Amino acid sequence: MTLAPFSIRDGREADLDYLNAYAYAEGMDALAGVEGVRVAVNDEDVPVGFLRIQVGADGVAYVNPVVTCAPWRGWGVGRALVEEAIERYGRLRLVARGASIPFYRALSFEDFAWSDVAPEIAADCDGCEMYEECTPLPMERNIL
Ligand SMILES: CC(C)(COP(=O)(O)OP(=O)(O)OC[C@H]1O[C@@H](n2cnc3c(N)ncnc32)[C@H](O)[C@@H]1OP(=O)(O)O)[C@@H](O)C(=O)NCCC(=O)NCCS
Repeated sequence: MTLAPFSIRDGREADLDYLNAYAYAEGMDALAGVEGVRVAVNDEDVPVGFLRIQVGADGVAYVNPVVTCAPWRGWGVGRALVEEAIERYGRLRLVARGASIPFYRALSFEDFAWSDVAPEIAADCDGCEMYEECTPLPMERNIL
């Protein structure tokens, strides 16, 4: 596969309109700021995807969320964002939406128990009206 040209850098306030448009398109909450956000940009420095890390009270880095804008899916952007985060944090956890479980499996994530999810992360799913449709699953990966 020919790699599409993109690179990864820290998120900037000026990126937020793009990032929040991508989040909105997926029914996700808007980002309030760029803390913990890494952005994949094209060769004109336009964001094409992002990953936000939220460190839980348990000290573990949670991906919340990772999004690639639709035209750029399938070009390795999501994998590159996740692999870079694993290099930095050593271990990543997340609660995967059902539809994204195959993506995380492709990246060698494994299931772990709901009881081990940091409470403030699990709270995102508590009482969510989309729970049945979403079928969320806690997944984790350690550096290989
Ligand atoms: C999930 C998402 C981030 C994947 O991003 P992407 O940039 O298209 O992913 P990549 O191109 O890096 O794919 C990485 C691997 O995952 C696989 N993959 C990606 N989506 C997949 C799917 N729906 N089913 C099966 N495999 C999938 C790819 O085939 C690829 O495998 P390979 O590297 O072994 O060839 C993207 O589809 C997205 O933004 N979805 C909407 C938001 C979302 O659900 N985010 C996750 C929840 S937080």
